[in-house]
Amino acid sequence: MIGLFVAFEGGDGAGKSTQVDLLADRLGQEGYAPILTRQPGGTALGRALRDLVLHGDHMSARAEALIFAADKAQHVEELIRPALLAGEIVITDRYTDSSVAYQGAGRDLGAQEVHDLQMWAVHDLVPDVTVIIDITAEEGRRRRGEVHDRLESEEDTFHEAVREHFHALAAAAPERYLVVDGTTDPIEIGAQIWERIEPLLPARPEQDPLL
Ligand code: TYD
Repeated sequence: MIGLFVAFEGGDGAGKSTQVDLLADRLGQEGYAPILTRQPGGTALGRALRDLVLHGDHMSARAEALIFAADKAQHVEELIRPALLAGEIVITDRYTDSSVAYQGAGRDLGAQEVHDLQMWAVHDLVPDVTVIIDITAEEGRRRRGEVHDRLESEEDTFHEAVREHFHALAAAAPERYLVVDGTTDPIEIGAQIWERIEPLLPARPEQDPLL
């Protein structure tokens, strides 16, 4: 892969979208045109699956895990892999770690099993960097307010299990993760993220000696 693949993860209400936008703005100022996407929902099929999995009636935990996996399979094949092969910077709001944490740890399906399912779905495509924005379950609930999708409406114990699993994933491979405190100033968080991403950036088009 010749592009750069960055994933944002974290609990509901952590402020991922704000940080995705800040990073995209900064990249734009530096002459890059990143591709922003999200899971579930980055493709036409993904948007239909998103609706089913977030707003449908009760479904079994395994059905839920398979729908999230299907969304990712489509997303990687249709959008992410071709973009990376073309040298693009791809930023995704959630990726496979969300499923490992929410379905594996939160739903209790087993982190290893869900990890294996996810890796099969995405052909083992792993981000260059995953940024985890960390907040407590309580703070997340406070920020989300009254509107809840199926996952958000789970108890705080579920969201604490998700949070702990994100920490465990980062601790197991620190070279591929950046964990930031989601309760600090968004601009400060953005600066920490930029510090981590900047050295990894591919050459800008005008800097490419072959052009
Ligand atoms: P998201 O779109 O990030 O929600 P929001 O816009 O409210 O931040 O994610 C939707 C929900 O889906 C979120 O609660 C996390 C959950 N989710 C999983 O449980 N497994 C997954 O694989 C993904 C990608 C998301």
